[in-house]
Amino acid sequence: MKVSTILGLVASATTAFADLSLKEAANGFSIGVAANTRFFEEEGYLEATNQYNTMVAENGCKLSGIQAEQGVYDFTDCDAHLAKAEELGMKFRGHCLIWFNYQPEWFQNIKGYDNMKNAIVDHITTVLTHYKGKIDTWDVVNEAIDDGSSGENGTFQLRDSFLTRECPDYIDIAFKTAREVDPEVKLYYNDYNNEGLYGSKTDSVYNLVKDMVDRGVPIDGVGLQYHLHTNAYPEYEKVVETMRRYAELGLEVQITEMDVNSVEGKTEEAFALQAKLYGEGLRACLNSPNCTGFITWGVGDSNSWRSNGYPLAFDVNYAPKPAYYAMLNVLKEYNNVEESDDQADEVDDADTTVDADVDSAEEDSADEQN
Ligand code: XIL
Repeated sequence: MKVSTILGLVASATTAFADLSLKEAANGFSIGVAANTRFFEEEGYLEATNQYNTMVAENGCKLSGIQAEQGVYDFTDCDAHLAKAEELGMKFRGHCLIWFNYQPEWFQNIKGYDNMKNAIVDHITTVLTHYKGKIDTWDVVNEAIDDGSSGENGTFQLRDSFLTRECPDYIDIAFKTAREVDPEVKLYYNDYNNEGLYGSKTDSVYNLVKDMVDRGVPIDGVGLQYHLHTNAYPEYEKVVETMRRYAELGLEVQITEMDVNSVEGKTEEAFALQAKLYGEGLRACLNSPNCTGFITWGVGDSNSWRSNGYPLAFDVNYAPKPAYYAMLNVLKEYNNVEESDDQADEVDDADTTVDADVDSAEEDSADEQN
């Protein structure tokens, strides 16, 4: 196949999602994406990003992005994400203040309770002060529960990390500090495998959060990361039940990092299963009154932290995948959004043809290079 034909196919794939965007179909519901300034020069990337109405920085607003050196705060990259979101008319979600993973050496090496506590308080105070009035929701603590925590009898076990070792009550400190610095901001606890599949982790996170609520530690919501695999995913009913349990505690939930890693690679079956799971996650959220947002963890498959698993709603050329249409259809159905007949035809055509075209375009392109 000639390059011009390939470009034509990619272009027609691109126009297939231009007429009714996810955000139009969302009708104010927060449908979001993790973005990264590394890709902001790519037109296709921005066009796909612009399908969503909410942005989170994949890495730029983490402690590692803002305070790579102790006491030296550099907001350049986090600010650049926020500025792009504002330019595109998107809301912006804060991720994340305190996390055990991918942290700078200086933070991991802090010794002593007071030193660790001071570092946590200083970071949260400085970041929330900088973004006061600009970011209304933050993941305050990320991934604190141990993967093996049984969750039996209302218990939970915290992950062993430099945070728990030096400052066992770091979660309380983090949430209380955040509330004090900015009483308006929504404070989230965010974790993975807590959406219903693994009973023990789902229960353990719930038990941690319930304990916080019972003791009056300020918290507004729980992030269900929703990092799934095509061979490991929760049942729809379990997800709805998980969300309902948090509603009973008076808490919001959001699906914060949706992706579905294909363990089979790039197959039609895997993409169809991804579509089903994206649709179910979004439907569970829309059917749960306390679920206030649904966010995917990246734009196109090649941008993903799990790029070998083709886990996202757009392919490596930023053409929409079945998962994209699944989200669009759930949003349209839920919000009663109608397209014109012409637009509907275009979406239907794209639905059945785009993936096959782009797949063969990629293969042909590889052939030509060989
Ligand atoms: C990941 C990013 O996608 C990677 O680019 C980075 O190298 C490591 O972090 N859970 C989270 C996210 O809360 O912050 C992680 O993001 C993915 C798992």
